[in-house]
Amino acid sequence: MPFPIPGRFALTHPPLAATSACVFDAYGTLFDVVSASARCRDALGDKADALAALWRTKQLEYTWLRSLMGRHAEFWQVTGESLDFALAALGIAGDRLRERLMDAFLNLQAFADARAVLEALRRAGRPAAILSNGSPRMLAAAVGSAGLGKLLDHLISVEEVGTYKPDRRVYQLAVDRLGLAPAQICFVSSNGWDAAGAAGFGFASVWANRTGAPRERLPVQPLAEIGSLDALPALLGL
Ligand code: LAC
Repeated sequence: MPFPIPGRFALTHPPLAATSACVFDAYGTLFDVVSASARCRDALGDKADALAALWRTKQLEYTWLRSLMGRHAEFWQVTGESLDFALAALGIAGDRLRERLMDAFLNLQAFADARAVLEALRRAGRPAAILSNGSPRMLAAAVGSAGLGKLLDHLISVEEVGTYKPDRRVYQLAVDRLGLAPAQICFVSSNGWDAAGAAGFGFASVWANRTGAPRERLPVQPLAEIGSLDALPALLGL
């Protein structure tokens, strides 16, 4: 571990305080993917939580599998195909329900801590961006429905390189767009594997471990772990 993980309390972290911009993962980090199934709980009943978990798991698996197969498709298609798998696995039918779930995924709610951290960055004059698997249309819709558009300087989609995280070409997009070296960029993700991939690329990576998950057994660890985005401004020395 290059620096002691601060856990659930916030300390200024010198390598993070030395960064010049913040880049956020979108799904699970700023936007609550579970809220899509929760909004359809009236129709899903007690299968809502199982659907949310399986949908997300398959959505990510399909990004990795398509990348390995060299068969890229936009995240919108992958999101629909993983939903179809999850609905079939749980024995849930209905075209109208599928449409509602996809629409809810397009217009996700932001986590309660997202706005405050983006406002703190804006006050400090630090650029903030999203770097996500989401297609440009999905990112624009999520930012719009969450009302966060004015607080984000860049929405960067993997579609520019046609592959998925954690491919290094994806992380390089943020370097090119911001004109900063990787170590000058604080990258924040709630997805442990994404935080590890970003650390391996060279970003000053922070894992926002919202669910208290165990650390990923991957070759590179993030610089710091926080329980929510509320702890980020202190780590950055803001
Ligand atoms: C994203 C996925 C990893 O937003 O959540 O890129």
